[in-house]
Amino acid sequence: MTVHGGIAPAIAADVRRGELLEWWTLFWMSSVIVLMWLTMGASQAMKSAVIDKIVPAEYRDPDGDESGISMRARVSYASNDRAKQDAITYEELADPKWKGKICIRSGQHIYNNALFAAYVAHHGEAKAEEWLRGLKANLAQKPSGGDREAARDVAAGKCDIGIGNTYYWALMMNKDPDKKPWAEATKVILPTFAGGGTHVNLSGLLLAKHAPNRANGIKLIEWLAGEHAQQIYADANYEYPIRDGVAINPTIASYGKLKADTLPVTRIGASRKAASTLVDKVGFDN
Ligand SMILES: [Fe+2]
Repeated sequence: MTVHGGIAPAIAADVRRGELLEWWTLFWMSSVIVLMWLTMGASQAMKSAVIDKIVPAEYRDPDGDESGISMRARVSYASNDRAKQDAITYEELADPKWKGKICIRSGQHIYNNALFAAYVAHHGEAKAEEWLRGLKANLAQKPSGGDREAARDVAAGKCDIGIGNTYYWALMMNKDPDKKPWAEATKVILPTFAGGGTHVNLSGLLLAKHAPNRANGIKLIEWLAGEHAQQIYADANYEYPIRDGVAINPTIASYGKLKADTLPVTRIGASRKAASTLVDKVGFDN
């Protein structure tokens, strides 16, 4: 088994050229939509009745080539002192009442790309553009840093709302004493799309087209979706389990009950490019 930490652009380029396929069995990545895009034509159907039964259809591709394996929600880290609301919609992030009060990382980062793509899928490109312009106008500063820095900047009083993934807050609170004050200054609010749920991004797996160890690859994917591995995911990296019957980590559960948006990952993937183009068009990162 060969393990690469992350998928470097060089590996991605090899994958797109169709190289490396002879000896890869699985690709495992923190974003299913990027996985689908990078490896177009490089995968094969798992044909796993176990995965089909465990993983909800909206978190798999219909051909069975990719499957989500854990979920994280894209949420707001709201200032305990200055943000009075306990609920918020993604649409509302563009409301002028938040002018100069929101901090977020680059609009081209995969986590924001997936969120913005979900917005496009929900509302269409024209409305998404309007929303992105509104969100951009509400930023306290140029998009920068990562999700943890969004909490840092809320704690420092630079903004009232930071946008980040659920597990970063839990990691700061429980496993990173230096950054614990950033988490302590904020509360996690699970935003929802108007009439929908909370956007989740998926870490997921793909079975390589020429997998030399196909059967074992499928076994590993099935094990990862099993109760034991899902509990490890839930507690070690504060992920939402992809399946029922696994306890959500108490810190994650403290955010409130997740009502995950049901937009299929394939529809989000199909809007990925449009979202990226809009980010450039509105000068989101400038
Ligand atoms: Fe991450």
